[in-house]
Amino acid sequence: MFSKYLPQAEKIMSDMTLNEKIGQLNQITITPYTDKMDELRELIKNGGVGSIILASSATAGNDPQGHVNIELYKDLQKIAVEQSRKGIPMIYGRDVIHGHRTVYPIPLASAASFNERLVEKCYKNIAAEALNDSIRWTFSPMLDLCHDPRWGRIAEGPGEDPLLGSRMATACVKGFQGDDLKADTSIVACAKHYLGYGASESGRDYFRTEISDGTLYNYIIPAFRAAVDAGVATVMSSFNDINGTPVTGGKKYLTDILRGKLNFDGFVVSDWGAVEQLEHAGFAEDRRDCAKKAIHAGLDLNMCDKCYIENLGDLVKSCEVKAAEIDTAVSRILCVKLAMGLFENPYCKRTEYDESAHLADAKLLADESMVLLKNNGVLPLKKDTDILLAGPFAEDRRTLLGTWTLDGDAEKTQNFKEALSERANGRFEYSAALESGANSDVIVLALGESYTKTGENHSVSDISLEDSQIELIKKARAKGRRVVGVFFCGRPLALENVEEYFDAILYAWHSGSKTAASAADILFGDVVPSGKTPVTFPRKPTHIPIYYNVTSSGRPCNSYYGEGPFYSYLDGDSSPLYPFGYGLSYTAFEYGKSECDCAEISLEELKNGKKVQLSVTVSNVGDFDGKETVQLYIKDVVASVIRPLRELKDYKKIFLKKGESKRIDFCLGYGDLGFYGEDGEYLLEKGKFEVFIGGNCLCGDPVELVVK
Ligand code: GLC
Repeated sequence: MFSKYLPQAEKIMSDMTLNEKIGQLNQITITPYTDKMDELRELIKNGGVGSIILASSATAGNDPQGHVNIELYKDLQKIAVEQSRKGIPMIYGRDVIHGHRTVYPIPLASAASFNERLVEKCYKNIAAEALNDSIRWTFSPMLDLCHDPRWGRIAEGPGEDPLLGSRMATACVKGFQGDDLKADTSIVACAKHYLGYGASESGRDYFRTEISDGTLYNYIIPAFRAAVDAGVATVMSSFNDINGTPVTGGKKYLTDILRGKLNFDGFVVSDWGAVEQLEHAGFAEDRRDCAKKAIHAGLDLNMCDKCYIENLGDLVKSCEVKAAEIDTAVSRILCVKLAMGLFENPYCKRTEYDESAHLADAKLLADESMVLLKNNGVLPLKKDTDILLAGPFAEDRRTLLGTWTLDGDAEKTQNFKEALSERANGRFEYSAALESGANSDVIVLALGESYTKTGENHSVSDISLEDSQIELIKKARAKGRRVVGVFFCGRPLALENVEEYFDAILYAWHSGSKTAASAADILFGDVVPSGKTPVTFPRKPTHIPIYYNVTSSGRPCNSYYGEGPFYSYLDGDSSPLYPFGYGLSYTAFEYGKSECDCAEISLEELKNGKKVQLSVTVSNVGDFDGKETVQLYIKDVVASVIRPLRELKDYKKIFLKKGESKRIDFCLGYGDLGFYGEDGEYLLEKGKFEVFIGGNCLCGDPVELVVK
């Protein structure tokens, strides 16, 4: 993909000095130079900067960031292009994670839409807005699967499933990069955080991970493989270690697997300070040793800690690092700069974009991301319903945008109270703590968690609802009225202790600029909910980790798929409160019997490309037109390595008018039924499989298939 530019890159490098080459491996942020801009200008003029990250701090997702400064970026780029000896443009990157000026749902919410085509469309919009502000590279998509919702960064990822993660990865990369990186609608994407960051022990951020190679290849790598196959130009190495080897200093991960197994040929950027952190982790002696270990591992661009620019020259002179290693890293960066047309177009080209169209897409994605978890018939509300609104997030604007929102304008974001009241035709009252307000037909509670409880360095030990919100819920229930809970969250919360008080629960997530409008439209039935859980909802925080693609055991005690004869815990039901792939609609979908065109197929036939054809008829038997995500899971009943009880292998989001039925077809081939061994090699073993098709991972009545 990018190595085709190698001849041009080598030509550029042919007369570069060692210092100029090392400069290409150096990414800086402007903030430290604020009071010494001449020093920065001199560094750029001397070819000492390959990239600038447009962020003012190492935790840009949490801290208010200075808005982009287009004139300054142009001035600095002119120095690189017109005054430095080689005239190599710098690549500007920024964390444009799930929106720029227009903010889309957090990635965990987008995954709940199971609508990757819509995600791709929205991410094209994001690219257009980012380009308009000189941003040519984004540090997104984040692809860290996660089993532990205590981890604040679960909000940034695609949930707990490799297939869903893979499809979201492809959608984001295609959305950002398009089919041609040189197009003036494309920005460079970055698959992060490679690798295994989401397995951070006990949900603590930046913590250690213990991951077998089998888990790596079957669970954690697929989304990155999909991003690479989609043509992602950059990958970001993660902070964490895997079994004691920091990824950023691990040749096994950055070279053997990423380039040897996944065939990635773009460049690898470290996470912020991840090179110098090799010393803090006790993996390197000092900063010099950090630089040596990282370049040996295959880390190309050093984000912000200056280990490379301060030490690589000396390491080459002392022959501890080969000049060829430097050349390899530089060539990868130059190839991407050539592939994106940065030499021809180093400056920002301001383009007009249709903000209203972007907001309309943000609304559509928010509509499809929200998950109806419970409804005893109270929803949808009639427009003339008398409503009493309460709760801590009724007037909140900023939280609705979610974590990692650097350029969205909270003040321009409609809050839930405004959205609900402008749609309500009956009496509408608001009392945050339910102190006043007549007894209305329905009490709507705006609940959840602040965006500051999610994102980087924002993990929590307890995913229960705050006590004050639990008291409010009980107070609402005591009024004897119907109670609807709308949850604005960045993770699954443990709701077993409050679930019974609600007549309906809508999980609205932090869904961006149009969160409030979507939640209100769903409550009044102007939008029929279609989201499905991209991650398991535990009953209690103490049940973590609990996830759907769990493996079997000799004494089946996994309560995910039913209790007994052995029990996970003596104290209570430890099945999920809401399983993976679950979500209600206002209508009802009926599944016919799953059909398969063969009861058995040979391994040879599968290897030769023959596929198993399956189908099911789905009927809309309710009173509303609606969308359903039809999911197909397999279970490899016996294998040389115990396999998960369910693995999502395909899904199709369909629209059915009320009364309509459709036959939905699936096929399973060689690449769907097997798994990766500890050596990273794919294999498919003969034996019995069960195939489940339904509306969530608990769907039963499997079709049996034998690979002979
Ligand atoms: C942060 C994050 C990473 C982000 C980078 C640049 O520490 O871990 O996701 O892209 O630094 O802001």
